Amino acid sequence: MTVPQVSWNDSYATGVAEIDAQHKILLHILNDARAKLSQSSAAQPIEPIVRDLLSYALYHFETEEALMLEFGYAGALDAEEAAHRGQHRAFTAKVKSVMEDLRGGEAVSVDDLLAFLYDWLIHHILNTDRKLGRFILERRAATSGVAP
Ligand SMILES: [Fe+2]
Repeated sequence: MTVPQVSWNDSYATGVAEIDAQHKILLHILNDARAKLSQSSAAQPIEPIVRDLLSYALYHFETEEALMLEFGYAGALDAEEAAHRGQHRAFTAKVKSVMEDLRGGEAVSVDDLLAFLYDWLIHHILNTDRKLGRFILERRAATSGVAP
């Protein structure tokens, strides 16, 4: 196993509590998957592990996209909103295609798969999700200014 596990650190924080809580869980699931996948592949089939990870990622994307809708992200930053959704869709398509390869009996490099998952998640959190976070925090601050 050449891919190191990644621990949460505050530079990953978007400042939006519900997004950060889910990112911590996502990272935990990914670290757990890494630990399982480092064991013998005969004892631990890869496909269900990847499927569980994708399932939580999809739930998490729904949460973020619901927040985009709630705070009018598309109306304010249309291109960024479309690019963000596009990254979610591309991740989903890639992981589904890996699962199809696994189901079809094709050899999949666990190291390559983990490297992709970690790289994607960290890059996406640090860039795309933090932009969304800043936007939501600004909107929340603006509305809390008039709230009692
Ligand atoms: Fe995202």
